[in-house]
Amino acid sequence: MARYACVLITGAAGEIGQALIRRLGGPDAERPLVTLDVHPLPAELLPWVRQHVIGSILDTQLLDRLVAEYEVDRVYHLAALLSTRSEFSPALAHRVNVEGTLNLLEFAQKQGESHGRPVVFFYPSSIAAYGLPDLEMKQRAGPVREEEFNFPTTMYGANKLYCEHLGRYYARHYKQLSAEPLAGRIDFRCLRFPGLISAETIPSGGTSDYAPEMIHAAAAGRLYYCFVRPDTRIPFMAMPDAVEAIVRLMAVPRQALTRLVYNVRAFAPSAGEIAQMVREAFPAARIVTQVDEKRQRIVDSWPADVDDSAARRDWGHAPRYDFISAFRDYLIPTIRGRYA
Ligand code: SER
Repeated sequence: MARYACVLITGAAGEIGQALIRRLGGPDAERPLVTLDVHPLPAELLPWVRQHVIGSILDTQLLDRLVAEYEVDRVYHLAALLSTRSEFSPALAHRVNVEGTLNLLEFAQKQGESHGRPVVFFYPSSIAAYGLPDLEMKQRAGPVREEEFNFPTTMYGANKLYCEHLGRYYARHYKQLSAEPLAGRIDFRCLRFPGLISAETIPSGGTSDYAPEMIHAAAAGRLYYCFVRPDTRIPFMAMPDAVEAIVRLMAVPRQALTRLVYNVRAFAPSAGEIAQMVREAFPAARIVTQVDEKRQRIVDSWPADVDDSAARRDWGHAPRYDFISAFRDYLIPTIRGRYA
C-alpha cells in the first residue's frame, strides 16, 4: 500500500479534536488527516479526514499497523480522560493518560526512524499540572510561571505533568542522533491549557466544565447547578484561540522555542463573573450554586491565573478573544444558532 505523509490526531472526537480537524483538515489540507478515537467522528467531520480509525491508544497492534500504513510526520495526541473522570477511575486514567501517551511517543519514534525526519508531536497539558497548597497561597501567588507549584493534587494532573517529562525525555535524551541539542526523532511541543470554552461542543469529565456547562445550559433554557463557589477563579480561553495557539506553536522552527512546555491563557474570571455574563446574555438563565466539595477542592488547587509571557515572546501567542469579546463575538452568536 502506498505510504504518504500525513497527520495523526488521537482523541479526535473530543472537544479540541473536533475543532482542530476543522482547522487542519478538508480538501485544501497541507497534509491529510488520519484520526483515531474510541468513538466515531460526528458524520459532518468525516469529509475533513482521510481516514477515521475507531480504536484505542492502548492497542499497540493497531498503532503498529498505522506505523506500517502511513508516513506520519505530525502527531496531535489529544486522547485523555479529564480530571473529574480520572478521580473516579484513577488506575484507568493512568493507563489511558500515561501508558497511552507512552504508546504514542513510541509510535512517533518509530515513524521518525522509518522516514528519517523528526516527528513534531503536540501534547496538550493543563493547569491541572499545578497544585497550590491552599486558597491563601492561590490568592497570593499571582500569575504562576511554568516551573512553579508543580505539585498536582489529581491523578489527571499528575499524569499530565509526568507526560511532559516523558516528552522531554524522548525529545532530548532518548536515542539522540548526535551530541547536538534537539537531535532526537521527536520534536515535542506542549501547551498547558487553561479551561477551554467551546460554542460547538460540551466537554465531559473535566473540572473546569462549570463554565461551558453554565453557558450551554442557559442557551438551551435549562436550570444549571454550578458545582463551585462564585469566587472560584481560574484562567480560561475560547476554543478558536486554543486551536490558533496549537497551530502557531506547531508552525515555528524548533530553534525558536526556548522551552518544551508553555502556559497559555486569555482571561481569568471568577465563576460568579461568568454567571453574571451569562445572565446578561440570556436574561432567563437560571444558575444555582450547589458546591461539590471534591470538585471545588480540585479547582481551588489550580492557579487563579498563569503567566504566559514565554508563549507570547517565543511564538507570538496572542488570543483574539478576551472575556467580553469571547461572549459577544463568539459564544453567544454561535451558541444561539445551535440551540435555536
Ligand atoms: N479542563 C480540564 C479539566 O477540567 C483541565 O485540563 O479536566
